[in-house]
Amino acid sequence: MTEKVLKLLIEAEDFLSGEDMSRILGVTRTAIWKHIKKLKDDGYAIESVTNKGYRVSLLPDQLDAHELMQLLKGNDLVKQVFVYKTIDSTNKEAKRKAMEEGVSTALFLSEEQTLGIGRRGKHWVSKSGTGIFMSLLLRPNIKPANASMLTLLVGIAASKAIEKETGLRTQIKWPNDLVLNNKKICGILTEMNSEIDYINYVVIGVGINVNQTKIDEELMDIATSLSLEGGKDYSRKSLITSFFEVFDKLYNQFLLRESLDFVIEEYNDLCVNVGRMVKAEINGQTIIGESIRVDNAGSLIIRTKEGVELLVNSGEVSVRGLYGYVD
Ligand code: BTN
Repeated sequence: MTEKVLKLLIEAEDFLSGEDMSRILGVTRTAIWKHIKKLKDDGYAIESVTNKGYRVSLLPDQLDAHELMQLLKGNDLVKQVFVYKTIDSTNKEAKRKAMEEGVSTALFLSEEQTLGIGRRGKHWVSKSGTGIFMSLLLRPNIKPANASMLTLLVGIAASKAIEKETGLRTQIKWPNDLVLNNKKICGILTEMNSEIDYINYVVIGVGINVNQTKIDEELMDIATSLSLEGGKDYSRKSLITSFFEVFDKLYNQFLLRESLDFVIEEYNDLCVNVGRMVKAEINGQTIIGESIRVDNAGSLIIRTKEGVELLVNSGEVSVRGLYGYVD
């Protein structure tokens, strides 16, 4: 009900009386007042003026759990939204909450992360209010071996959302990065807790550099932000909403098929690896060859200069000409 009260206030864009709200929502004015109080306690700036009612003023791009819950209402994937001003890591928080009773699928977002985690133990720079730092807690009923394909679906959804909201066309560097103008714009970190044949949960962390006006010096050559590339600021809320519009559909299809067959052409069109020379480090071995394509199981097919085709399921793959890899 608190979300409904907030939605009414946001949609009204002006004062709305307690009486009108109680009529529309079919609850007493005292109940409305209690929900308004709760919203104020949650940090909303709500003005109340006698004979006029209530008016909310949201900061334009402030992330807010109630509002996001409303924005994501059309999809049945996200049952709960948690938003933090600061947290160590949204992936860590999602994993902690996954162990609690009553948390099924949920979205975790933070304005900043003090210990943002990248792949292979790297640090993910997560300064307050600049980017999207989110983790999605899912409990898919699929084989654990197929969970890594979710990363590829998230890559597609993020790329499409970015294009819709900014007009900027990103490419996917298989399997975890989005690239814009040869620099990294987004990273995905998928973690799983499973038994041999059963997934307890999957946490998919997504970091998107949105409104950063400056990239740390040591990352300047390999990373960028949407705002640096597009020359203006973008709404994180709209990006998140668009992301879920796409991801929800992809996810539901995938659960039925446990294959990427329905989306693989689209994936390969977006994939920056395809047709390029790559270097893969697999179990301490270096493989150099041309990336042919990504298959329906999400593996990258590399053809070596001897003409041997190898399937790479995971591991570090550098693309020649990207992020400073030249040999
Ligand atoms: C990568 O190394 O490319 C993956 C980066 C993933 C960063 C995101 S930000 C939200 C979530 N929380 C984390 O601590 N990491 C992921």
